[in-house]
Amino acid sequence: MELYVLLPWLCVVFLELTSGVAHVEAHVTQNKNALKKKYRPIYHISSPKGWVSDPTGFTFFKRQYHMFFQYHPYDGSWGHINWGHAVSMNLIDWTHFPPAITPKEYYEMHGCQSGTALVNNNYLTLFYTGTVLADNETFQTQNLALSADGVVFQKYIYNPIIREAPHGVGEFRNPRVWRFRNTWYMMIGTTSRERNGKLILYTSGDMFNWKLDGTIAESMGDMGYMWENPDMFEMDGQHILIFSARGIKSEGYRFRNLYQTGYVVGHFDYVLGQFEDLEISTATFIELDYGHDFYAAKTMLARDGRRLLIAWLGMWESDLIESKDGWASMLTMVRELRLSDSGRLTMTPVREIVDLRAEILEDAWYRPGEMFYAGTKSFELIVNSSAIVSFVGLALEWGAEHRYSIGYHADHGHVSVDRGGTDGVRIAEWSPSGFVHWRIFVDGSSIEVFCGEGEVVFSSRIYPKKEIRVRVSGDTQLHIIQYRLRRSIGHNNKKPTKRNKKRTKLIKKFKIDSEPNV
Ligand SMILES: *[C@@H]1O[C@H](CO)[C@@H](O)[C@H](O)[C@H]1NC(C)=O
Ligand SMILES: *[C@@H]1O[C@H](CO)[C@@H](O)[C@H](O)[C@H]1NC(C)=O
Repeated sequence: MELYVLLPWLCVVFLELTSGVAHVEAHVTQNKNALKKKYRPIYHISSPKGWVSDPTGFTFFKRQYHMFFQYHPYDGSWGHINWGHAVSMNLIDWTHFPPAITPKEYYEMHGCQSGTALVNNNYLTLFYTGTVLADNETFQTQNLALSADGVVFQKYIYNPIIREAPHGVGEFRNPRVWRFRNTWYMMIGTTSRERNGKLILYTSGDMFNWKLDGTIAESMGDMGYMWENPDMFEMDGQHILIFSARGIKSEGYRFRNLYQTGYVVGHFDYVLGQFEDLEISTATFIELDYGHDFYAAKTMLARDGRRLLIAWLGMWESDLIESKDGWASMLTMVRELRLSDSGRLTMTPVREIVDLRAEILEDAWYRPGEMFYAGTKSFELIVNSSAIVSFVGLALEWGAEHRYSIGYHADHGHVSVDRGGTDGVRIAEWSPSGFVHWRIFVDGSSIEVFCGEGEVVFSSRIYPKKEIRVRVSGDTQLHIIQYRLRRSIGHNNKKPTKRNKKRTKLIKKFKIDSEPNV
Protein backbone atom coordinates (compact mmCIF):
# COMPACT_ATOMS: atom_id res chain seq x y z
CA MET A 1 0.00 0.00 0.00
CA GLU A 2 1.34 3.40 -0.87
CA LEU A 3 2.14 5.97 1.75
CA TYR A 4 -0.49 8.53 0.76
CA VAL A 5 -3.18 5.92 1.29
CA LEU A 6 -1.80 4.89 4.65
CA LEU A 7 -1.12 8.35 5.95
CA PRO A 8 -4.68 9.32 6.87
CA TRP A 9 -5.13 6.09 8.83
CA LEU A 10 -1.89 6.61 10.69
CA CYS A 11 -3.05 10.07 11.67
CA VAL A 12 -6.33 8.69 12.92
CA VAL A 13 -4.60 6.06 15.01
CA PHE A 14 -2.22 8.65 16.37
CA LEU A 15 -5.12 10.88 17.33
CA GLU A 16 -6.89 8.02 19.06
CA LEU A 17 -3.84 7.56 21.23
CA THR A 18 -3.14 11.15 22.08
CA SER A 19 -6.06 13.48 22.19
CA GLY A 20 -8.43 11.76 24.61
CA VAL A 21 -11.78 13.31 25.13
CA ALA A 22 -10.97 16.97 25.06
CA HIS A 23 -13.64 17.84 22.53
CA VAL A 24 -16.47 16.66 24.74
CA GLU A 25 -17.09 19.46 27.17
CA ALA A 26 -19.36 19.89 30.07
CA HIS A 27 -22.19 21.97 28.81
CA VAL A 28 -25.27 19.97 29.56
CA THR A 29 -25.89 21.23 33.03
CA GLN A 30 -29.47 21.67 33.95
CA ASN A 31 -31.83 22.33 36.73
CA LYS A 32 -34.18 19.39 36.83
CA ASN A 33 -36.94 21.36 38.43
CA ALA A 34 -36.82 23.93 35.71
CA LEU A 35 -37.74 21.42 33.05
CA LYS A 36 -41.33 21.71 32.07
CA LYS A 37 -42.62 18.37 31.01
CA LYS A 38 -46.03 19.30 29.75
CA TYR A 39 -45.57 18.37 26.09
CA ARG A 40 -42.55 16.10 26.46
CA PRO A 41 -42.69 12.78 24.60
CA ILE A 42 -41.62 9.61 26.43
CA TYR A 43 -40.98 7.21 23.56
CA HIS A 44 -39.67 9.54 20.84
CA ILE A 45 -36.10 10.82 20.76
CA SER A 46 -36.09 14.38 22.11
CA SER A 47 -34.08 16.31 24.63
CA PRO A 48 -35.27 17.90 27.90
CA LYS A 49 -33.01 20.81 27.06
CA GLY A 50 -32.03 22.05 23.62
CA TRP A 51 -33.15 21.88 20.04
CA VAL A 52 -33.47 18.57 18.15
CA SER A 53 -34.01 18.36 14.39
CA ASP A 54 -32.82 16.36 11.36
CA PRO A 55 -31.42 12.90 12.02
CA THR A 56 -27.82 13.24 10.79
CA GLY A 57 -26.73 9.60 10.77
CA PHE A 58 -28.21 6.18 11.57
CA THR A 59 -26.12 3.01 11.70
CA PHE A 60 -25.27 -0.20 13.58
CA PHE A 61 -21.92 -0.52 15.36
CA LYS A 62 -20.70 -2.98 17.99
CA ARG A 63 -24.11 -4.58 18.51
CA GLN A 64 -25.92 -1.28 18.95
CA TYR A 65 -27.93 1.06 16.78
CA HIS A 66 -26.50 4.58 16.77
CA MET A 67 -28.73 7.54 16.04
CA PHE A 68 -27.27 10.98 15.44
CA PHE A 69 -29.31 14.15 15.08
CA GLN A 70 -28.94 17.90 14.82
CA TYR A 71 -28.77 19.18 18.34
CA HIS A 72 -28.37 22.65 19.78
CA PRO A 73 -27.78 21.91 23.48
CA TYR A 74 -28.24 25.33 25.00
CA ASP A 75 -31.85 26.29 24.41
CA GLY A 76 -34.99 25.55 22.45
CA SER A 77 -33.98 27.38 19.31
CA TRP A 78 -31.89 26.51 16.28
CA GLY A 79 -28.26 27.47 16.73
CA HIS A 80 -24.72 26.18 16.33
CA ILE A 81 -25.51 22.58 15.54
CA ASN A 82 -23.88 19.60 17.29
CA TRP A 83 -24.41 15.96 16.46
CA GLY A 84 -26.59 14.62 19.26
CA HIS A 85 -26.13 10.89 19.85
CA ALA A 86 -28.47 8.18 21.15
CA VAL A 87 -27.86 4.45 21.26
CA SER A 88 -30.21 1.47 21.29
CA MET A 89 -30.07 -2.33 21.33
CA ASN A 90 -33.63 -2.77 20.09
CA LEU A 91 -34.66 0.34 18.12
CA ILE A 92 -37.15 1.45 20.79
CA ASP A 93 -35.20 1.94 24.04
CA TRP A 94 -32.74 4.79 23.44
CA THR A 95 -29.99 6.03 25.74
CA HIS A 96 -28.56 9.50 25.27
CA PHE A 97 -24.78 9.72 24.86
CA PRO A 98 -22.62 12.85 24.86
CA PRO A 99 -22.77 14.82 21.59
CA ALA A 100 -20.61 13.07 19.00
CA ILE A 101 -19.41 16.24 17.27
CA THR A 102 -19.45 19.83 18.48
CA PRO A 103 -18.46 22.82 16.33
CA LYS A 104 -14.92 23.82 17.30
CA GLU A 105 -12.75 24.14 14.23
CA TYR A 106 -12.46 27.07 11.84
CA TYR A 107 -14.27 25.13 9.09
CA GLU A 108 -17.40 24.44 11.19
CA MET A 109 -17.69 27.50 13.44
CA HIS A 110 -21.41 27.89 12.86
CA GLY A 111 -22.41 24.27 13.00
CA CYS A 112 -21.84 20.64 12.10
CA GLN A 113 -24.66 19.71 9.79
CA SER A 114 -26.17 16.42 8.69
CA GLY A 115 -24.35 13.72 6.75
CA THR A 116 -23.76 10.00 7.09
CA ALA A 117 -22.76 7.55 9.82
CA LEU A 118 -21.23 4.30 8.61
CA VAL A 119 -18.89 1.57 9.80
CA ASN A 120 -15.60 0.92 8.02
CA ASN A 121 -12.50 -0.94 9.25
CA ASN A 122 -13.97 -1.12 12.78
CA TYR A 123 -14.33 2.64 12.96
CA LEU A 124 -17.66 4.35 13.37
CA THR A 125 -17.19 7.01 10.72
CA LEU A 126 -19.14 10.26 10.43
CA PHE A 127 -19.29 12.45 7.37
CA TYR A 128 -20.69 15.89 8.07
CA THR A 129 -20.99 19.41 6.74
CA GLY A 130 -19.11 22.26 8.38
CA THR A 131 -20.87 25.59 8.15
CA VAL A 132 -19.27 29.02 8.41
CA LEU A 133 -21.22 32.26 8.05
CA ALA A 134 -19.22 35.31 7.04
CA ASP A 135 -20.18 38.58 5.37
CA ASN A 136 -23.77 37.36 5.11
CA GLU A 137 -22.64 34.36 3.09
CA THR A 138 -22.68 30.65 3.90
CA PHE A 139 -19.56 28.55 3.34
CA GLN A 140 -20.02 24.80 3.59
CA THR A 141 -17.39 22.05 3.50
CA GLN A 142 -17.48 18.27 3.92
CA ASN A 143 -15.68 16.72 6.86
CA LEU A 144 -14.91 13.46 8.59
CA ALA A 145 -14.77 12.21 12.19
CA LEU A 146 -13.97 8.72 13.46
CA SER A 147 -14.45 6.68 16.60
CA ALA A 148 -13.05 3.32 17.66
CA ASP A 149 -15.42 2.88 20.61
CA GLY A 150 -18.61 4.55 19.36
CA VAL A 151 -18.50 7.19 22.11
CA VAL A 152 -15.54 9.51 21.56
CA PHE A 153 -15.04 10.89 18.06
CA GLN A 154 -11.90 12.41 16.57
CA LYS A 155 -12.06 14.88 13.75
CA TYR A 156 -9.77 14.00 10.87
CA ILE A 157 -6.75 16.32 10.96
CA TYR A 158 -6.86 17.04 7.23
CA ASN A 159 -10.49 18.25 7.34
CA PRO A 160 -12.18 19.53 5.28
CA ILE A 161 -12.06 16.61 2.87
CA ILE A 162 -14.03 18.68 0.32
CA ARG A 163 -13.27 22.37 0.63
CA GLU A 164 -15.85 24.01 -1.56
CA ALA A 165 -18.76 23.45 -3.89
CA PRO A 166 -17.65 22.99 -7.51
CA HIS A 167 -19.53 26.00 -8.84
CA GLY A 168 -18.99 28.28 -5.90
CA VAL A 169 -22.49 28.32 -4.39
CA GLY A 170 -22.61 28.30 -0.64
CA GLU A 171 -25.38 25.74 -0.18
CA PHE A 172 -23.46 22.47 -0.26
CA ARG A 173 -24.41 20.01 2.41
CA ASN A 174 -25.49 16.66 3.81
CA PRO A 175 -23.05 14.14 2.31
CA ARG A 176 -24.63 10.75 1.81
CA VAL A 177 -21.74 8.28 1.60
CA TRP A 178 -21.82 4.62 0.58
CA ARG A 179 -19.56 2.03 -0.92
CA PHE A 180 -20.23 0.04 -4.07
CA ARG A 181 -17.61 -2.55 -5.07
CA ASN A 182 -14.23 -0.83 -4.58
CA THR A 183 -15.38 2.75 -4.78
CA TRP A 184 -16.75 5.18 -2.26
CA TYR A 185 -19.59 7.45 -3.40
CA MET A 186 -20.69 10.72 -1.86
CA MET A 187 -23.86 12.49 -2.91
CA ILE A 188 -24.28 16.13 -1.78
CA GLY A 189 -27.28 18.45 -1.82
CA THR A 190 -26.86 21.82 -3.47
CA THR A 191 -28.38 24.38 -5.80
CA SER A 192 -27.35 25.19 -9.35
CA ARG A 193 -26.31 28.61 -10.65
CA GLU A 194 -29.83 28.91 -12.03
CA ARG A 195 -31.16 28.28 -8.51
CA ASN A 196 -32.48 24.78 -9.16
CA GLY A 197 -32.23 21.99 -6.59
CA LYS A 198 -29.46 19.60 -7.51
CA LEU A 199 -27.51 16.58 -6.23
CA ILE A 200 -23.86 16.14 -7.12
CA LEU A 201 -21.68 13.06 -6.87
CA TYR A 202 -18.10 12.57 -5.74
CA THR A 203 -16.07 9.35 -5.78
CA SER A 204 -13.08 8.14 -3.81
CA GLY A 205 -10.88 5.09 -3.50
CA ASP A 206 -10.06 5.62 0.18
CA MET A 207 -12.83 7.87 1.60
CA PHE A 208 -10.33 10.66 2.32
CA ASN A 209 -9.50 11.97 -1.15
CA TRP A 210 -12.53 12.81 -3.28
CA LYS A 211 -13.03 13.79 -6.87
CA LEU A 212 -16.05 15.38 -8.48
CA ASP A 213 -17.91 12.96 -10.70
CA GLY A 214 -20.84 15.08 -11.89
CA THR A 215 -24.51 15.75 -11.36
CA ILE A 216 -26.72 12.84 -10.28
CA ALA A 217 -29.98 14.69 -10.60
CA GLU A 218 -31.25 18.22 -11.00
CA SER A 219 -34.60 19.95 -10.89
CA MET A 220 -35.92 20.83 -14.31
CA GLY A 221 -37.72 23.79 -12.86
CA ASP A 222 -40.70 22.73 -10.73
CA MET A 223 -38.77 20.98 -7.96
CA GLY A 224 -37.52 23.87 -5.86
CA TYR A 225 -34.33 25.88 -5.47
CA MET A 226 -32.39 23.68 -3.05
CA TRP A 227 -32.18 19.93 -2.43
CA GLU A 228 -30.78 18.56 0.80
CA ASN A 229 -30.55 15.46 2.96
CA PRO A 230 -30.23 12.95 0.12
CA ASP A 231 -30.44 9.23 0.87
CA MET A 232 -30.29 6.36 -1.60
CA PHE A 233 -30.72 2.60 -1.31
CA GLU A 234 -31.60 -0.46 -3.30
CA MET A 235 -34.82 -2.35 -2.70
CA ASP A 236 -36.29 -5.18 -4.80
CA GLY A 237 -33.89 -4.38 -7.64
CA GLN A 238 -34.84 -0.69 -7.76
CA HIS A 239 -32.93 2.35 -6.52
CA ILE A 240 -34.85 4.67 -4.27
CA LEU A 241 -33.63 8.24 -3.96
CA ILE A 242 -35.00 10.18 -1.01
CA PHE A 243 -34.32 13.87 -0.54
CA SER A 244 -35.76 17.06 0.92
CA ALA A 245 -36.58 19.94 -1.40
CA ARG A 246 -37.01 23.60 -0.61
CA GLY A 247 -39.29 25.69 -2.76
CA ILE A 248 -41.77 23.29 -4.42
CA LYS A 249 -45.07 25.10 -4.95
CA SER A 250 -48.14 23.41 -3.54
CA GLU A 251 -50.52 21.83 -6.06
CA GLY A 252 -53.99 21.18 -4.67
CA TYR A 253 -53.47 19.02 -1.61
CA ARG A 254 -49.90 18.00 -2.59
CA PHE A 255 -46.82 19.72 -1.11
CA ARG A 256 -48.73 21.67 1.53
CA ASN A 257 -45.80 22.02 3.91
CA LEU A 258 -43.16 24.75 3.69
CA TYR A 259 -40.56 22.17 2.54
CA GLN A 260 -41.04 18.63 1.23
CA THR A 261 -39.43 15.25 1.80
CA GLY A 262 -40.12 12.57 -0.78
CA TYR A 263 -38.63 10.03 -3.13
CA VAL A 264 -38.30 8.84 -6.69
CA VAL A 265 -37.89 5.24 -7.84
CA GLY A 266 -35.52 4.41 -10.67
CA HIS A 267 -32.33 2.67 -11.60
CA PHE A 268 -28.95 4.15 -10.76
CA ASP A 269 -26.27 3.48 -13.36
CA TYR A 270 -22.89 3.29 -11.62
CA VAL A 271 -21.02 3.69 -14.92
CA LEU A 272 -22.75 6.95 -15.79
CA GLY A 273 -23.15 8.08 -12.18
CA GLN A 274 -26.77 8.94 -12.97
CA PHE A 275 -30.27 7.57 -12.96
CA GLU A 276 -31.36 5.95 -16.22
CA ASP A 277 -34.26 7.71 -17.92
CA LEU A 278 -35.54 9.45 -14.85
CA GLU A 279 -36.83 12.96 -14.93
CA ILE A 280 -37.28 14.25 -11.42
CA SER A 281 -40.32 16.48 -11.40
CA THR A 282 -43.46 16.91 -9.34
CA ALA A 283 -44.91 14.15 -11.54
CA THR A 284 -42.40 11.55 -10.31
CA PHE A 285 -41.58 12.87 -6.81
CA ILE A 286 -43.80 11.27 -4.15
CA GLU A 287 -44.15 12.62 -0.62
CA LEU A 288 -43.07 10.16 2.05
CA ASP A 289 -45.40 11.39 4.78
CA TYR A 290 -48.45 13.60 4.43
CA GLY A 291 -48.47 15.17 7.90
CA HIS A 292 -47.54 18.73 8.84
CA ASP A 293 -44.24 17.88 10.50
CA PHE A 294 -41.91 15.56 8.67
CA TYR A 295 -38.50 16.39 7.22
CA ALA A 296 -34.99 15.12 6.48
CA ALA A 297 -35.46 11.35 6.39
CA LYS A 298 -32.52 9.02 6.97
CA THR A 299 -32.43 5.27 6.36
CA MET A 300 -30.25 2.29 7.27
CA LEU A 301 -30.17 -1.39 6.46
CA ALA A 302 -30.70 -3.50 9.57
CA ARG A 303 -28.81 -6.78 9.96
CA ASP A 304 -32.00 -8.73 9.28
CA GLY A 305 -32.50 -7.00 5.94
CA ARG A 306 -35.10 -4.45 6.96
CA ARG A 307 -34.73 -0.94 5.54
CA LEU A 308 -35.38 1.38 8.49
CA LEU A 309 -36.25 5.07 8.30
CA ILE A 310 -36.31 7.90 10.78
CA ALA A 311 -36.99 11.60 10.20
CA TRP A 312 -37.45 14.85 12.03
CA LEU A 313 -40.99 15.14 13.36
CA GLY A 314 -40.84 18.84 12.67
CA MET A 315 -40.88 21.54 10.03
CA TRP A 316 -38.88 24.71 9.60
CA GLU A 317 -40.56 27.95 10.64
CA SER A 318 -43.35 26.25 12.57
CA ASP A 319 -44.40 27.49 16.00
CA LEU A 320 -42.83 25.28 18.64
CA ILE A 321 -44.75 26.07 21.79
CA GLU A 322 -42.27 24.12 23.93
CA SER A 323 -39.23 26.16 22.87
CA LYS A 324 -39.96 28.74 25.56
CA ASP A 325 -39.51 25.88 28.05
CA GLY A 326 -35.97 25.35 26.79
CA TRP A 327 -36.46 22.32 24.57
CA ALA A 328 -37.73 21.83 21.04
CA SER A 329 -38.96 19.09 18.79
CA MET A 330 -38.38 15.37 18.43
CA LEU A 331 -37.64 12.63 15.93
CA THR A 332 -40.28 10.28 14.49
CA MET A 333 -40.43 6.69 15.67
CA VAL A 334 -38.31 4.30 13.61
CA ARG A 335 -40.25 2.92 10.62
CA GLU A 336 -39.86 -0.04 8.27
CA LEU A 337 -39.96 0.59 4.52
CA ARG A 338 -41.32 -1.70 1.83
CA LEU A 339 -41.88 -1.24 -1.87
CA SER A 340 -45.43 -2.06 -2.91
CA ASP A 341 -46.41 -3.74 -6.18
CA SER A 342 -47.40 -0.34 -7.52
CA GLY A 343 -43.87 1.00 -6.96
CA ARG A 344 -44.67 3.06 -3.88
CA LEU A 345 -42.93 3.00 -0.54
CA THR A 346 -44.99 2.00 2.47
CA MET A 347 -44.00 2.85 6.04
CA THR A 348 -45.02 0.87 9.12
CA PRO A 349 -43.91 1.39 12.72
CA VAL A 350 -40.80 -0.65 13.53
CA ARG A 351 -42.14 -4.02 14.65
CA GLU A 352 -40.36 -3.84 18.05
CA ILE A 353 -42.72 -1.00 18.98
CA VAL A 354 -45.20 -3.56 20.38
CA ASP A 355 -42.76 -4.03 23.28
CA LEU A 356 -43.68 -0.52 24.43
CA ARG A 357 -47.22 -1.68 25.25
CA ALA A 358 -47.50 -1.46 29.00
CA GLU A 359 -51.21 -1.92 29.55
CA ILE A 360 -54.36 -2.44 27.51
CA LEU A 361 -56.82 0.35 28.28
CA GLU A 362 -59.64 -0.21 25.78
CA ASP A 363 -60.81 -3.06 23.57
CA ALA A 364 -64.37 -2.53 22.38
CA TRP A 365 -66.73 -1.43 19.61
CA TYR A 366 -67.81 2.20 19.63
CA ARG A 367 -70.76 3.68 17.74
CA PRO A 368 -70.72 7.07 16.01
CA GLY A 369 -70.70 9.81 18.64
CA GLU A 370 -69.45 7.58 21.44
CA MET A 371 -66.19 8.45 23.16
CA PHE A 372 -63.78 7.50 25.92
CA TYR A 373 -61.03 9.33 27.79
CA ALA A 374 -57.49 8.43 26.76
CA GLY A 375 -56.31 8.43 30.39
CA THR A 376 -52.68 8.92 29.33
CA LYS A 377 -50.63 11.21 27.10
CA SER A 378 -48.67 8.41 25.43
CA PHE A 379 -50.67 5.68 23.77
CA GLU A 380 -51.38 3.60 20.68
CA LEU A 381 -54.77 3.10 19.06
CA ILE A 382 -55.62 0.27 16.70
CA VAL A 383 -58.79 1.20 14.85
CA ASN A 384 -60.76 -1.09 12.52
CA SER A 385 -64.04 -0.57 10.73
CA SER A 386 -66.44 -3.44 10.22
CA ALA A 387 -67.92 -2.45 6.90
CA ILE A 388 -67.04 -0.60 3.73
CA VAL A 389 -68.82 2.67 4.21
CA SER A 390 -68.70 6.14 2.79
CA PHE A 391 -67.23 7.98 5.76
CA VAL A 392 -65.14 6.59 8.58
CA GLY A 393 -64.05 9.14 11.16
CA LEU A 394 -62.24 9.39 14.45
CA ALA A 395 -61.40 12.48 16.46
CA LEU A 396 -59.09 13.21 19.34
CA GLU A 397 -60.58 16.10 21.28
CA TRP A 398 -59.40 18.20 24.19
CA GLY A 399 -60.88 21.15 26.00
CA ALA A 400 -64.07 22.58 24.61
CA GLU A 401 -63.20 22.96 20.97
CA HIS A 402 -59.80 21.55 20.11
CA ARG A 403 -59.57 18.45 18.03
CA TYR A 404 -57.43 16.43 15.66
CA SER A 405 -59.67 14.46 13.33
CA ILE A 406 -59.03 11.66 10.86
CA GLY A 407 -61.46 10.74 8.10
CA TYR A 408 -61.67 8.26 5.27
CA HIS A 409 -63.93 9.44 2.45
CA ALA A 410 -64.72 6.51 0.16
CA ASP A 411 -66.39 8.66 -2.51
CA HIS A 412 -63.28 10.80 -2.92
CA GLY A 413 -60.83 7.93 -2.45
CA HIS A 414 -58.88 9.84 0.11
CA VAL A 415 -58.00 10.03 3.76
CA SER A 416 -57.59 13.35 5.54
CA VAL A 417 -56.51 14.75 8.87
CA ASP A 418 -57.35 18.12 10.38
CA ARG A 419 -55.51 19.48 13.39
CA GLY A 420 -57.38 22.80 13.31
CA GLY A 421 -56.06 26.29 12.68
CA THR A 422 -55.71 28.00 9.33
CA ASP A 423 -53.58 25.31 7.68
CA GLY A 424 -54.84 22.29 9.56
CA VAL A 425 -55.96 19.95 6.77
CA ARG A 426 -53.77 17.38 5.02
CA ILE A 427 -55.18 15.00 2.40
CA ALA A 428 -53.78 11.93 0.64
CA GLU A 429 -55.22 9.55 -1.92
CA TRP A 430 -56.05 6.25 -0.28
CA SER A 431 -58.29 3.34 -1.22
CA PRO A 432 -58.10 0.53 1.30
CA SER A 433 -58.81 -2.82 -0.28
CA GLY A 434 -60.82 -4.12 2.67
CA PHE A 435 -61.91 -2.39 5.84
CA VAL A 436 -60.41 0.76 7.25
CA HIS A 437 -57.43 0.06 9.50
CA TRP A 438 -55.50 2.79 11.32
CA ARG A 439 -52.65 2.60 13.82
CA ILE A 440 -52.31 5.86 15.69
CA PHE A 441 -49.46 6.83 18.02
CA VAL A 442 -49.76 9.78 20.37
CA ASP A 443 -46.85 10.88 22.54
CA GLY A 444 -47.25 14.09 24.55
CA SER A 445 -47.33 16.53 21.66
CA SER A 446 -47.00 14.33 18.58
CA ILE A 447 -49.28 12.13 16.53
CA GLU A 448 -48.41 9.60 13.82
CA VAL A 449 -51.24 7.98 11.87
CA PHE A 450 -50.45 4.87 9.80
CA CYS A 451 -53.20 3.98 7.31
CA GLY A 452 -53.72 0.39 6.17
CA GLU A 453 -50.41 -1.32 5.54
CA GLY A 454 -48.57 2.01 5.66
CA GLU A 455 -49.63 3.33 2.24
CA VAL A 456 -50.29 6.72 3.82
CA VAL A 457 -48.76 8.18 6.99
CA PHE A 458 -49.47 11.53 8.66
CA SER A 459 -46.99 12.86 11.25
CA SER A 460 -47.76 16.09 13.07
CA ARG A 461 -47.24 18.00 16.26
CA ILE A 462 -50.35 18.67 18.38
CA TYR A 463 -50.58 20.48 21.69
CA PRO A 464 -53.35 18.97 23.82
CA LYS A 465 -53.70 21.21 26.86
CA LYS A 466 -56.18 18.88 28.54
CA GLU A 467 -56.82 15.17 28.62
CA ILE A 468 -57.61 13.67 25.21
CA ARG A 469 -61.04 12.19 24.44
CA VAL A 470 -61.24 9.64 21.63
CA ARG A 471 -64.51 9.95 19.71
CA VAL A 472 -65.98 8.03 16.79
CA SER A 473 -67.09 10.77 14.42
CA GLY A 474 -68.00 9.03 11.16
CA ASP A 475 -71.14 7.11 10.24
CA THR A 476 -69.94 3.64 11.15
CA GLN A 477 -68.95 1.90 14.34
CA LEU A 478 -65.29 1.21 15.00
CA HIS A 479 -63.40 -1.40 16.93
CA ILE A 480 -60.74 0.35 19.00
CA ILE A 481 -57.90 -1.12 21.02
CA GLN A 482 -55.92 1.31 23.13
CA TYR A 483 -52.57 0.58 24.73
CA ARG A 484 -50.72 2.75 27.17
CA LEU A 485 -47.10 2.93 26.00
CA ARG A 486 -44.15 3.04 28.37
CA ARG A 487 -41.19 5.41 28.53
CA SER A 488 -38.29 4.26 26.42
CA ILE A 489 -35.96 7.25 26.21
CA GLY A 490 -33.60 7.82 29.07
CA HIS A 491 -30.14 6.99 30.21
CA ASN A 492 -28.50 3.72 31.06
CA ASN A 493 -28.51 3.19 34.82
CA LYS A 494 -27.21 -0.35 34.73
CA LYS A 495 -24.25 -0.96 37.01
CA PRO A 496 -21.07 -0.37 35.06
CA THR A 497 -18.53 -3.15 34.68
CA LYS A 498 -15.01 -2.25 35.74
CA ARG A 499 -13.82 -2.08 32.16
CA ASN A 500 -16.55 0.34 31.22
CA LYS A 501 -16.53 2.37 34.37
CA LYS A 502 -14.50 5.23 33.01
CA ARG A 503 -16.58 5.48 29.91
CA THR A 504 -19.82 5.25 31.84
CA LYS A 505 -18.69 8.06 34.08
CA LEU A 506 -18.18 10.18 31.02
CA ILE A 507 -21.58 9.25 29.69
CA LYS A 508 -23.29 9.91 33.02
CA LYS A 509 -21.78 13.32 33.13
CA PHE A 510 -23.51 14.10 29.90
CA LYS A 511 -26.77 12.30 30.37
CA ILE A 512 -29.29 14.72 29.10
CA ASP A 513 -32.54 13.12 30.10
CA SER A 514 -33.42 13.55 33.72
CA GLU A 515 -36.26 11.06 33.80
CA PRO A 516 -35.53 7.47 34.78
CA ASN A 517 -35.68 4.68 32.24
CA VAL A 518 -38.74 2.71 33.38
C1 LIG B 1 -25.19 41.94 5.96
O1 LIG B 1 -26.59 42.14 5.83
C2 LIG B 1 -27.07 43.25 6.58
C3 LIG B 1 -28.58 43.28 6.47
O2 LIG B 1 -29.01 42.92 5.20
C4 LIG B 1 -26.38 44.53 6.11
O3 LIG B 1 -26.83 45.63 6.90
C5 LIG B 1 -24.87 44.39 6.25
O4 LIG B 1 -24.22 45.52 5.73
C6 LIG B 1 -24.38 43.14 5.52
N1 LIG B 1 -22.97 42.94 5.80
C7 LIG B 1 -22.07 42.69 4.85
C8 LIG B 1 -20.65 42.53 5.33
O5 LIG B 1 -22.34 42.60 3.67
C1 LIG C 1 -57.73 -4.88 12.34
O1 LIG C 1 -57.33 -4.90 10.97
C2 LIG C 1 -56.03 -5.40 10.76
C3 LIG C 1 -55.68 -5.19 9.30
O2 LIG C 1 -56.69 -5.70 8.48
C4 LIG C 1 -55.93 -6.83 11.21
O3 LIG C 1 -54.61 -7.32 11.05
C5 LIG C 1 -56.31 -6.90 12.70
O4 LIG C 1 -56.34 -8.24 13.12
C6 LIG C 1 -57.68 -6.27 12.93
N1 LIG C 1 -57.92 -6.21 14.36
C7 LIG C 1 -59.08 -6.49 14.91
C8 LIG C 1 -59.16 -6.42 16.39
O5 LIG C 1 -60.05 -6.78 14.25
